[in-house]
Amino acid sequence: MRTIIEPFRIKSVEPIRMTSPAERRQILSHAQYNLFCIAAEDVIIDLLTDSGVAAMSAEQWAALMRGDESYAGSASFERFDAAVKRLMPFKHVIPTHQGRAAEAILFALLGGAGKIIPSNTHFDTTRANIEATGAHAIDLVCPQADDAACEAPFKGDMDLDRLSSLLERDGARVACVMMTITNNAGGGQPASLANIKAVSAMARRHGKLFVIDGCRFAENAWFVKEREEGQRRRSVAEIVNDIFSCADAMTMSAKKDAFANIGGWLALNDDDLAEQARTRLILTEGFPTYGGLAGRDLDAISQGLSEIIDEDYLRYRVRVNEYMLERLVAEEVPVVRPAGGHAVFLEAGAMLPHIPALHYPGQALATALYEEGGVRGCEIGSVMFGRQPDGSERPARRELVRLAMPRRVYTQSHADYVVETILAVHERRSRLRGLRIVREPQALRHFTAAFSPLD
Ligand code: F0G
Repeated sequence: MRTIIEPFRIKSVEPIRMTSPAERRQILSHAQYNLFCIAAEDVIIDLLTDSGVAAMSAEQWAALMRGDESYAGSASFERFDAAVKRLMPFKHVIPTHQGRAAEAILFALLGGAGKIIPSNTHFDTTRANIEATGAHAIDLVCPQADDAACEAPFKGDMDLDRLSSLLERDGARVACVMMTITNNAGGGQPASLANIKAVSAMARRHGKLFVIDGCRFAENAWFVKEREEGQRRRSVAEIVNDIFSCADAMTMSAKKDAFANIGGWLALNDDDLAEQARTRLILTEGFPTYGGLAGRDLDAISQGLSEIIDEDYLRYRVRVNEYMLERLVAEEVPVVRPAGGHAVFLEAGAMLPHIPALHYPGQALATALYEEGGVRGCEIGSVMFGRQPDGSERPARRELVRLAMPRRVYTQSHADYVVETILAVHERRSRLRGLRIVREPQALRHFTAAFSPLD
């Protein structure tokens, strides 16, 4: 069959409240043009994030009832530990309440003033956790990543030349080498297995720990299977195993590729580091067999991990984004190509060349999509990355709007509706105006900043 269908049936539904454009204009103004400040019930299609918003399966809901809420040594932890280790062969698995808690613990141990932590591209919480220790977070993604139209299959790869010269020049300051798979901030683009292995070998040659931020590991592994030479016959589970076999540690948000609404973990091989991490965990998260989660959450994750590597699911998951992208490309809407794993990324900078970077074209586009169709996306550009640690402001590398797809939540007609909304805004793009920031916090300003539209 030509049509790739949602490989599930729906047995529980949530109504969507419809709103009119006039209502949405009021809501936007009330929220001071920050989409994070809008009530979810005022959103028609919520593509703000793919994090923590998955629809759980019947088996996951059943698993909740098996949750063992014992403070220490719970059976839920044993199942969780085994489920993670089945896919990712690390010696120590330390549960946390979400991904950034794992990052905070890891960088409290590895970071510090003067240290450098390179990655293909750090996600915003990763960067903020590194910088909070006084260390520098630097992005060394391959050059193809900056060319939105380039159809290279692995635009999430690390630039090996730049990593090598950093390690030669400044190796003593490098605390560890990281990779984010898929590369969320860079458009949800995957890294190839060959690149991951090469980064691992280079880190080891220089005696550095290699850490993978594995939030979207299954989507990355699917792309490896589909796009990398010699991988097509292997199962996604085997590829996942291969990827993590060459890492010394991983951070994970179970809110992405574990189909969970909450949770995460830090996994490590080094005994001493694991011991220190567990000590910190007890201070901030909880005892090492629950780490800030309920036992039932651990069971939802364990079950989710067995479902996420299902290849029918992954084929459908990636196909939705490809389908939306094909329709947008046909109408010449600027998008990041090829399709990423978890989202469609619109090139706001290219669509709105009349709006300068520091008048936030991404924010202008994201708010227009909300006004037009009640679709909530997320700016990934100068609002998110423009503010520097010293308080100054400079344009981000790219001005994007991310439309992230929650897992198993929306259907084909929802995808069609989103495409229609984008096309309608694209039609009137020359009339969109930029914004200015009227209030912002010290860090991670995109969550709470207030904006005012420019005339
Ligand atoms: N790393 C990556 C690549 C992420 O995308 C995220 C979260 C995190 C780490 C942090 O995990 O939220 O569980 O603390 N990304 C979400 C998003 C918030 O919308 O992309 P967390």
